[in-house]
Amino acid sequence: MILLKFGGSVITDKTTECCFKQPTVDQLAKELFQAQKSFILVHGAGSFGHIQAKKYHLNNGYSTKSQLKGFSLTHMMVQKLNSMVLNTLYDHGIPAVGLPPHAMMILDNHQPLQFNTTIIDNYLDLGLTPVTYGDVILDKSQGFSICSGDLLIEILAKQYHPDKVIFVMDEDGLFTANPKLNPDAKFITETTIKELSSLQTTANTYADVTKGMQGKVETIKRIAAHGIDTYLVNGNIHNRLFHTLIDKETKYTHIFGDTI
Ligand code: IPE
Repeated sequence: MILLKFGGSVITDKTTECCFKQPTVDQLAKELFQAQKSFILVHGAGSFGHIQAKKYHLNNGYSTKSQLKGFSLTHMMVQKLNSMVLNTLYDHGIPAVGLPPHAMMILDNHQPLQFNTTIIDNYLDLGLTPVTYGDVILDKSQGFSICSGDLLIEILAKQYHPDKVIFVMDEDGLFTANPKLNPDAKFITETTIKELSSLQTTANTYADVTKGMQGKVETIKRIAAHGIDTYLVNGNIHNRLFHTLIDKETKYTHIFGDTI
């Protein structure tokens, strides 16, 4: 089984509120169908969640009643995005089911406290593709907080030990510096946990409430420590996802799993 994340910056335009990139998601769904693999899909919130969550300071937890409106709005919008993703998968022949993280999990200080995988297991057994997503959810000490798609990937990777984890992003993979800011940034084709520890990444400039690239690198290191290989792939370039899914070489960053 393969665990995949569609980054919010691939499936939405992060600079425009609630802007879904339909042609890109169509292409990705087509490639998923062609590969004929079993997978769990997680998607980010992009401009359906970050802008709203930032406006209402949702990632700092519950402090004022007015945030409840923001919680409801953010949840509604990411659910809408999830419907659009499900719709696109359906149109390309992939029977999928949307699983809101708040219905399976409670956090405590941004870390999982309870996670019930029974529903995911049963849908997988039936042959349906579970699709979950970054959302606002209950948090024991904070009232609520953000559950990012990256956190979901990490939890699911530990639980299911997939053949590989694929992050579909709007960049070719990892660079030695932020390629959008630094023309000398060099592309990294393959790397290890050890090498990743010495890598400096810069935060991106979007209205992100989750941790951007630095947070992703930390997540990947924890996934790799379970012996699971991770691939970072550009979702905007046709067939890179397809080739990664079918083990054909293409441009990506491959982070080797290593349990030592
Ligand atoms: C963020 O999820 C969830 C909310 C802001 C509600 P992610 O952190 O996984 O989203 P992207 O991939 O950065 O857009």
